[in-house]
Amino acid sequence: MLKRTHSCQALRPGNIGETVVLAGWVNTYRDHSKALVFIDLRDREGLTQIVFDTADVPTEVVEAAQGLRREDVIAVRGTVRERGGGANPKLATGEIEVLASELEILNKAETPPILPDDHEAEKMNEEIRLKNRYLDLRRPKMQRILETRSRVAQFTRAFFHDRNFLEIETPLLIKSTPEGARDFVVPSRLEAGDWYALPQSPQLFKQILMIAGCERYIQLPKCLRDEDPRADRQAEFTQIDLEMSFVDRDDVLETMGGFAAALWQEMLGVDVGEIPRMTWREAMETYGIDRPDLRFGLEISDISDLAAKTEFGVFTSALEKKSPMGSGVVKAFRVPGGAERLTRKMTDGYSEWIKLFGAGGVPTTKCNGEGFESGVARFVEPIADELMERLGCEKGDTVFFTADTWEVATKAIGELRIKVARDLELIDEDAWKFVWVVDFPMFELDVESNRWVALHHPFTAPNPGQEGLLETDPGNCISAGYDLVCNGSEIGGGSIRIHRPEVQQKVFDLIGLTPEEAEMKFGFLLRALKHGAPPHGGIAFGLDRLIMHLVGTDNIRDVIAFPKTQSGGDLMIDAPGPIDDEQMKELHVRTVPTS
Ligand code: AMO
Repeated sequence: MLKRTHSCQALRPGNIGETVVLAGWVNTYRDHSKALVFIDLRDREGLTQIVFDTADVPTEVVEAAQGLRREDVIAVRGTVRERGGGANPKLATGEIEVLASELEILNKAETPPILPDDHEAEKMNEEIRLKNRYLDLRRPKMQRILETRSRVAQFTRAFFHDRNFLEIETPLLIKSTPEGARDFVVPSRLEAGDWYALPQSPQLFKQILMIAGCERYIQLPKCLRDEDPRADRQAEFTQIDLEMSFVDRDDVLETMGGFAAALWQEMLGVDVGEIPRMTWREAMETYGIDRPDLRFGLEISDISDLAAKTEFGVFTSALEKKSPMGSGVVKAFRVPGGAERLTRKMTDGYSEWIKLFGAGGVPTTKCNGEGFESGVARFVEPIADELMERLGCEKGDTVFFTADTWEVATKAIGELRIKVARDLELIDEDAWKFVWVVDFPMFELDVESNRWVALHHPFTAPNPGQEGLLETDPGNCISAGYDLVCNGSEIGGGSIRIHRPEVQQKVFDLIGLTPEEAEMKFGFLLRALKHGAPPHGGIAFGLDRLIMHLVGTDNIRDVIAFPKTQSGGDLMIDAPGPIDDEQMKELHVRTVPTS
């Protein structure tokens, strides 16, 4: 076999005159009046033009070259020369070509069902790409993404190794973990009727590692959650997972903020600066969401006190509603210049669309500089001056309201804020806005079961000084949890953990775990906590989501070599699939037909 000397991205005018060997795939093929055969040869790095001059090479080479087709795998020996017919400025190697003297066909390819071409791929049904992933991954864009992913993994390992973290693997066959999604489970062959669960994260193992004296742990684990995939969610994904002993919240945020900043500097040359912090309450009140997108304004105000002075039924009846978060609220934001930029069709559309989030509609009005006109203007007349002042209204602004329970009005207006920003293209797509969201409530009340549910997970500690509230007022207890948000997407989350067994037991009680259930599920943790658990805390970043940001895609499947589809399938290997009866028997399982 001809041994390659250079990659298809390497050759420049400085190499002219050299004899080289290149190997790769036939990207394109052109046959010029039988005198010249042109090939664009592709490998992982790039493309180089190869020319076969039929007058110059032996007949068998000419014939072989003329028989080449797209995606054939070849090696070529030849001489680098200046490109005849002018340079191609779009290619890094565009000033040269290789005049072939020898051709070795390493493998012929059948006519490919899809071509590894970035432009074609955009128009193509994603299922065909996933089914033929080996061809799809040959595309330059996918090769760059895989390269980015590899670089991020290397950078991460080096960063934490330099800071004295140990990379420790944790098992895949475990018992159920508590991240709140459904488990994937595996039947045990040796223990009839028993099942392993696959880890939703290494949460409890990393805590045990702290109790085991490891002090600083890092891993890039696979996490498995049987939940419906979304644009930024896969059933099988990767985390950058870490845990540290003898730390408080500031230590974790500084370490991880430093990591995120160093990563953005390394990968994009971007200085993200000091990452600000925002309380959960502020995020919810001002942005209507716990992962605020700070690339645009449209800040939300609570105007419940003003709304109470009106006789507008939509406002007053909302204020009378009750929910676990207290009385109903009226919220508003102004869209600068909205009177001109938002059409009637758009504002009417929002009133329908908002129903997706449980709100009844979006009362709307416009500011004329002195007061309000159109829409709900006459209802807000009595509060016009105060409303203008509260929202900072100017002539030409549109004002949107939501009125409902705190939960519904907050979520609905938060979603509307994002939709309006997208529709009016108010989002600075070049900006990087990181924010730490801190001071989450420990629990939220699940109205149906009337039970407290841990907002992060039940191993999250209360903030210092808040422990007493576990006894007296759990609903107002603030946790030591934190999320890192980038441009409105949650890229990481973690907390300082409970390290005292009695506090852990109290939290289990509050979330309604009986002592027997707690013992069955987490007995090992409760026991370990009794054997000298150091104060500890940690965090996990979603590696796939980091890569999505770094390469600029909204589709998580783009950043995973072999992703699952919407229905959890791998189309290339055709999984999941049936297993044979013998295997079922060995595993002590039987299929029950669904009726
Ligand atoms: P959490 O469940 O918040 O925390 O997950 C941490 C981060 O992982 C990413 N992530 C996902 N990415 C892709 N697909 C998914 N289905 C998915 N689910 C989560 C997100 C998220 O911020 N053990 C805790 C961490 C800790 O407390 O230290 C945990 O797993 O970016």
